[in-house]
Amino acid sequence: MCGIVGYIGPKGAVPILLEGLKKLEYRGYDSAGIAVIEDKNLELRKAEGKLKVLDDKLSLEKFKGNIGLGHTRWATHGRPSDENAHPHQDCGGKLALVHNGIIENFQEIKRNLEKEGHTFSSETDTEVVVHLVEKFFSGNLSEAVQKATALLEGSYAIAVINQENPDQIVAYRQDSPLILGIGEGEYYLASDIPALLPYTRRVIILEDGEMVELNRENYRVIGPGGELLNKEIEEIDWDLEMAEKKGFPHYMLKEIHEQPDVMRQLLEKPLRGSEIELPEIDAILKSQEKIEKIFIVACGTAYHSGLIGKALLEKATGIPVEVDMASEFRYRSPLIGENSLVIVVSQSGETADTLAALRHARDKRAKTLGIVNVQGSTIAREADQLLLIEAGLEIAVASTKAYLNMLTAFNLLALKMGDGDIAGNENGELLHLLREIPAQVEKTLLRMEKPVRKAAEYIKNWDNAFFVGRGLDFSLALEGALKLKEISYIHAEAYAAGELKHGTLALIEEGIPVVALLTQESLLEKMISNIQEIRARGGYVFGITQDRFASRVAEEVDFLFKIPNTADIFAPLLGTVPLQLLSYFTADFRDCPIDQPRNLAKSVTVE
Ligand code: F6R
Repeated sequence: MCGIVGYIGPKGAVPILLEGLKKLEYRGYDSAGIAVIEDKNLELRKAEGKLKVLDDKLSLEKFKGNIGLGHTRWATHGRPSDENAHPHQDCGGKLALVHNGIIENFQEIKRNLEKEGHTFSSETDTEVVVHLVEKFFSGNLSEAVQKATALLEGSYAIAVINQENPDQIVAYRQDSPLILGIGEGEYYLASDIPALLPYTRRVIILEDGEMVELNRENYRVIGPGGELLNKEIEEIDWDLEMAEKKGFPHYMLKEIHEQPDVMRQLLEKPLRGSEIELPEIDAILKSQEKIEKIFIVACGTAYHSGLIGKALLEKATGIPVEVDMASEFRYRSPLIGENSLVIVVSQSGETADTLAALRHARDKRAKTLGIVNVQGSTIAREADQLLLIEAGLEIAVASTKAYLNMLTAFNLLALKMGDGDIAGNENGELLHLLREIPAQVEKTLLRMEKPVRKAAEYIKNWDNAFFVGRGLDFSLALEGALKLKEISYIHAEAYAAGELKHGTLALIEEGIPVVALLTQESLLEKMISNIQEIRARGGYVFGITQDRFASRVAEEVDFLFKIPNTADIFAPLLGTVPLQLLSYFTADFRDCPIDQPRNLAKSVTVE
């Protein structure tokens, strides 16, 4: 939700800010803006629309200023427009401020500031912050920021510059990510690491309540009590190549194709011996007999991975597992206690609802485990135990490789906690099958492209589609439907196949596309009966099944996708591939902006 960048150093700031914003555009892309101090004058340029619009606008000007801020927006308060785009300014026009997050008490602050004579020119919550800084400014920007932020409620990372001091940026973090990049005689600020990678790998990740003051010669990190902090500089070892498209037309397709590799990477250490090695969860294993209940909490795609995680963990451990959408979790007063294990799942590690759920669980003294992709993210740092899913940088808004590795992580966890017995299989046999999965994902990718394109040609003309399955396949169907909705804008419903006849069957009409998952042997015949009910009413069924069931399924569907044979519990790891490609090609045929679907953002740091 919004990306912020900052630069102070010897170079021209504008190209650096724009480059950084490009890397952060996944966080929001409805408008963008920059502020740069040019000969002691603050120059602001903003533009509604994608970053390209701002970029084009700026290409006509030649700014030389070497200190500046940039912002790419995902609107929360006020529609996308030039006026609502950041940076925002104070009444005197001397300060410029960018913000990521939400100021919950902005209306009250705004009313008071208006009474004091401040005038506002946008509908945003952010604008109150720059006016508050103006109100408290009496020569020391850091002091003014400290006083202003003390009055704010909500989540915010902010950065501010003052045209009268072109040698300083002050930034503050509270519940929204902010990272300081340290270069040679220059400093950078960004909401996320990829924006810093072209310039430096040396970073300091700010914590809540911390402020950073960047001067030309040095920087100071100041703690919540005003104390000077000596924070460790971390070296980032990410591969910059991951942030490029590598010849693929979209990040989403590139990320789908990276799945075999990232999965191998995740499985490598845990599967190198005859038993699963997961030292990250040793503490959980030690207390396992005391765990009375497991909760899995997440949002969106990560939540869907949790539904599969529940089935696996219950089978493996015999401990009851509940799965919650993070936005619902703490409001239903879940019965968590010291003997609960709360697993939070998040690609970004910054999702506001998931983070709030984690904090709620910690308040209730539950044990917590984070299944997270982004190292150093807030959830990764705050969870008691951490299982990193190692999917690498995921840029497309629609999550693919992170989802697959979330599923893989749940499989590892279940196999480890199940102590060799899950779904009646011996661990040795399952480990062998799991080792084969990355190669099978590769094979599935190769197999699928042609048939999926054909299916997408059909689906692209419909306004509605259904995804059905039973057991693990139903959880996978939910993810398939979300992917299609999100990037192709086709309305898609996922149903437990046995539930259709209780109402939804009324929507089946001649030709409507229904994607049916049939990967689970024990449910195969039941699924076939449900498919017959759908086809009898005119539904056009695309089946997804394992090779070994193909001859049985082929005559029951209109179109068949075959995935390689595996144990049924691993089938979702392969079944997700045709679903991802189906949504991708359907969206591509419909000319949708695949990597940046409308109204969405990659990292949802507001509740
Ligand atoms: C859908 C998608 C979202 C995210 C959700 C949670 O493709 O990506 O539904 O899964 O916003 O995000 P994280 O995993 O970052 O907590």
